[in-house]
Amino acid sequence: MQTNTLYNSSATQPDNCINIQSSIASDDCHTVGNTSVKNPRMNCRNVDVFYADKQAINQVTLDIGRNEVIAMIGPSGCGKSTFLRCLNRMNDTIDSCRISGEILLDGQNIYDKRQDVVPLRAQVGMVFQKPNPFPKSIYENVAYGPRIHGLTSTKSDLDIIVESSLNRAGLWDEVKDRLNQPGTGLSGGQQQRLCIARTIAVGPEVILMDEPCSALDPIATAKIEELIDELHEEYTIVIVTHSMQQAARVSQRTAYFHLGNLIEVGETNQIFSNPRHKLTEDYITGRFG
Ligand SMILES: Nc1ncnc2c1ncn2[C@@H]1O[C@H](COP(=O)(O)OP(=O)(O)OP(=O)(O)O)[C@@H](O)[C@H]1O
Ligand SMILES: [Mg+2]
Repeated sequence: MQTNTLYNSSATQPDNCINIQSSIASDDCHTVGNTSVKNPRMNCRNVDVFYADKQAINQVTLDIGRNEVIAMIGPSGCGKSTFLRCLNRMNDTIDSCRISGEILLDGQNIYDKRQDVVPLRAQVGMVFQKPNPFPKSIYENVAYGPRIHGLTSTKSDLDIIVESSLNRAGLWDEVKDRLNQPGTGLSGGQQQRLCIARTIAVGPEVILMDEPCSALDPIATAKIEELIDELHEEYTIVIVTHSMQQAARVSQRTAYFHLGNLIEVGETNQIFSNPRHKLTEDYITGRFG
């Protein structure tokens, strides 16, 4: 590892830099690497998040590109899920949570008062750590979203959406003969693909995934990873993962968080082979986290 490529910790501290834990050098919250991309789908600017008076995200600025898979990594509690939930206003459901800064989707501020969160969460869909199918049939799990968003008027159109979404989620062949059986009766890996089909069915632009494979075995994990690879041709995917191997396999860019700060962002190959910041290097070499 080239130590001379590590971030120079004597750099000047940016004015907007707040220490959220005294053990972290004050300049460490200045992100290393290029936070912007040429053709962004989303732009996050100076995002702060507080739970009551406790700061969980500190001045994060990051673009998310079109058709990219970007991985968010970092030790437990560093704010990965909190940041991910900012991207479709899922944090709105937590009373103590307060967000400032700016997050744009296709140039529009998603925190604008006029923004309706229901269509936003269809545009920026979310897949959770634990598969959470509705207590409904496989068919209804996928059909529910397009129906409530008024995407179809006829049963045959809905059938087409259900089939194509299950197809794109790599599940159709396994469920086509039992569409009326409960989604909760599927295996964990199948349930997660059902949740991905449900997200795809409402025509998202961005899919947020918070540790989508942590409850799955290696075979089911491999299927989800294959799927992520196929889906990114059509969608932007932001994935939080504790598995650095997974981040390396599925993503083109990686963002490393530490104590609420975005420490470093860059091409995934560079982050794992030649991290520029000491904290990134310590994490990926297993010195902490
Ligand atoms: N609903 C909440 N209310 C209060 N504090 C919260 C809430 N959710 C998260 N936090 C706090 O915010 C910080 C960031 O948590 P977050 O869940 O975003 O971390 P994470 O990086 O996703 O961790 P993990 O890898 O364990 O999932 C932590 O200190 C956590 O305790
Ligand atoms: Mg989390």
